[in-house]
Amino acid sequence: MRPLIAGNWKMHGTLREAASLAEAVRAGAAGLSVDLLVCPPFPYIHLVAAAMLGQPMAVGAQDCHAAAKGAHTGDISAPMLRDVGATHVILGHSERRADHGETDAAVRAKAEAALAVGLVPVVCVGETEAQRLAGEAEAVVRRQLAESLPDSFAGIIAYEPVWAIGTGRTPTEADIAAIHATIREALVARFGASGQATRILYGGSMKPGNAKAILALPHVDGGLVGGASLVAADFLAIAQAA
Ligand code: G3P
Repeated sequence: MRPLIAGNWKMHGTLREAASLAEAVRAGAAGLSVDLLVCPPFPYIHLVAAAMLGQPMAVGAQDCHAAAKGAHTGDISAPMLRDVGATHVILGHSERRADHGETDAAVRAKAEAALAVGLVPVVCVGETEAQRLAGEAEAVVRRQLAESLPDSFAGIIAYEPVWAIGTGRTPTEADIAAIHATIREALVARFGASGQATRILYGGSMKPGNAKAILALPHVDGGLVGGASLVAADFLAIAQAA
């Protein structure tokens, strides 16, 4: 399957920096045989989406509310994201699960809201370090998949071990391959052929130096890149490695 390299810019940058990062990625993307997605902070989505219009690059958000509209001060709905040009939305990132108490049920409701307006949800799963040390990584990921995904799921999964995010540490290649195989198996068991075709991204300290080896593993269909996506040359080097 054609790989997808996605950049999660998290809460970084200014409007000016977002514009120049988007432009640098756009300029370097020509000729790449991968799909690219960038996910800027909410206030910059419209600008970046406008800059990417007609380009082979998708723009996404980092969260959405489960309701289409209503009295939810400070929240952003899936229809609003569509309106400003987003086509994807990251959901259930571990930083949102930790910082905002997002449960699997909340992530599922958000994914349903995204799908209802044609946004592609990128649903994140992954174990903490304590869970991995306790031998629970696979069970945690299975539970998150079972409970965070709607019954009809046309989206993307990102496996992000929490302890690998922003730390420079990554699981061994064997451990990444094992969890990705588990995810594939769970997707196929629940969704059949569409589970076979669902992209599974790896995220967590993906860098130009380790991308090639990680992206070559079975059932690794791309990457969800944090820190390295803020440097156009690094993001593009990861895309080239795919
Ligand atoms: O969503 C991407 C992410 O959490 C990984 O971040 O900085 O480890 O690449 P980073």
